[in-house]
Amino acid sequence: MSSEGFGSGAVARECRRRRTFAIISHPDAGKSTMTEALALHARMISEAGAVHGKGGRRSTVSDWMEMEKARGISVSSTALQFAYDGEHSGDEPNVINLVDTPGHADFSEDTYRVLTAVDAAVMLIDAAKGLEPQTLKLFQVCRHRGIPVITVINKWDRPGQTPLELIDEITERIGLIPTPLFVPVGIAGDFRGLLDRRTGKFIKFSRTAGGAKVAPEEIVDAATAAETQGDAWIAAVEESELLGELGQDHDQEMFLAGQTSPMIFTSAMLNFGVRQLLEALVEFAPAPAGRTGIDGAERTVTDPFSAVVFKVQAGMDTSHRDRLAFMRIVSGQFERGMVVTHAQTGKPFATKYAQAVFGRDRSTVDTAYPGDVVGLVNAMALAPGDTLYIDPKVQYPPIPSFAPEHFSALRVTTADKYKQFRRAIDQLDAEGVVQVLRNDLRGDASPVLAAVGPMQFEVVTARMKAEFNVDTILEPLGYALARRTDEDSAADLSRQRGVEVFTRSDGVLLALFSDKWRLQFIEKEFPDLTLAALVAATD
Ligand code: G4P
Repeated sequence: MSSEGFGSGAVARECRRRRTFAIISHPDAGKSTMTEALALHARMISEAGAVHGKGGRRSTVSDWMEMEKARGISVSSTALQFAYDGEHSGDEPNVINLVDTPGHADFSEDTYRVLTAVDAAVMLIDAAKGLEPQTLKLFQVCRHRGIPVITVINKWDRPGQTPLELIDEITERIGLIPTPLFVPVGIAGDFRGLLDRRTGKFIKFSRTAGGAKVAPEEIVDAATAAETQGDAWIAAVEESELLGELGQDHDQEMFLAGQTSPMIFTSAMLNFGVRQLLEALVEFAPAPAGRTGIDGAERTVTDPFSAVVFKVQAGMDTSHRDRLAFMRIVSGQFERGMVVTHAQTGKPFATKYAQAVFGRDRSTVDTAYPGDVVGLVNAMALAPGDTLYIDPKVQYPPIPSFAPEHFSALRVTTADKYKQFRRAIDQLDAEGVVQVLRNDLRGDASPVLAAVGPMQFEVVTARMKAEFNVDTILEPLGYALARRTDEDSAADLSRQRGVEVFTRSDGVLLALFSDKWRLQFIEKEFPDLTLAALVAATD
């Protein structure tokens, strides 16, 4: 790549102070509460309760679809940016980008795509429940993408497991070795503070009314802690020593390699341990780095502007009927209004309407740097995985589509609406809402939708109705898994019971199987057939 251009010193400086991460968790582990607590610590809000509006508080959570309101969920993923001036910050405050993953019980490809936009993840675990299914799935995606993970054991103010039980569970079930930076003082349910394993000191927390304010901290030396905290302190010291003997101390290289995970104990509700999480992010999470294009050329962060679209969302604002594309900046400085090139079409794209979006709040973005997430309004031509750049050309590898596990045929039920139906399918397909599969046998009237999570189907039918005024019905198909195949194998596969072959809209041939036993049987009987596993979140 070319030598550093004008202003690259500023870009390098902005990069160094940025951290872009997502919180991965099972619903109810406390992601919303933690998001709010982080914003509170960054002094972005003055009182907890302002961001997520639980329990009748002001809500800024997206309500872009009726479906979300009905279910009390947020399907949209957006980014919250805040400045944080902490112990480990340099001359200037850090800039933290928290990219929001949908917090509902179901999965969609969107959730996974969001993780392509971050440099680190915080795995938030409920102290009483330990590892839960959604956390596991998301963790696998992080592992697959090589995203380093910081582990947070939340709700320590409530009864739960012991630190060692939780550490064992994480080590045994996912092979990630936790390296606690702190050990809690007081068992789960009696959260007094943290033993800082590096300084040996006690960080004593005090409650504030309703957990609405940053919890005051007092740093206490070990001798005083032993006197005032008694057995709780002794237990924490013993645990810390045991971890040291086991070699479970932070190691930056192993963390970045995805082998170990710094661990923190928090109560997002009481704002305990939240500052420590921010400090860990600043100290250990990697700053934005360059990426390699499909031609193998490396684009460094100080090279000219480039970005990857990781999510496209329509109808976030029903009064405007807009379509937003969220891009993560990879290199260079973004200035609103600059004209960039869309790598997939070679066409120019004007960035006059650039926004930061978090929940219902939108603000215009004038300047942004690598690691930042910017929403582009009315980005009709952009799809997830697309690249935008300023010369010289770069195109980043596409975002992998994840292995679908749910398959339904979609049929239009409103008479005379077939044209709109086709247009809608094409648009939702281009946006990456679902994967669309077709074969000659079924024809075009009833395409098969393939999804990672069934909620993707609901989004399709709801948007068909709301945006295109088309009523549709879904007929679940009796298939449970898909494999990639080729022309040569397709004919043989089509003759088998419990198998059907389709062409996905990107041209990939997919064979669907009724169950894993059917697949195993066919693999055994016909070992020469091409049956490649797709990228699966559960690999
Ligand atoms: P989510 O976004 O991951 O789904 O979780 P959310 O923050 O909504 O938290 C789920 C529930 O857990 C909420 O209770 C929240 O108050 C509670 N919670 C979150 N963090 C902590 C914590 O550190 N300690 C304790 N004790 N509770 C915590 P809720 O009853 O569903 O809602 P609310 O009415 O209390 O807000």
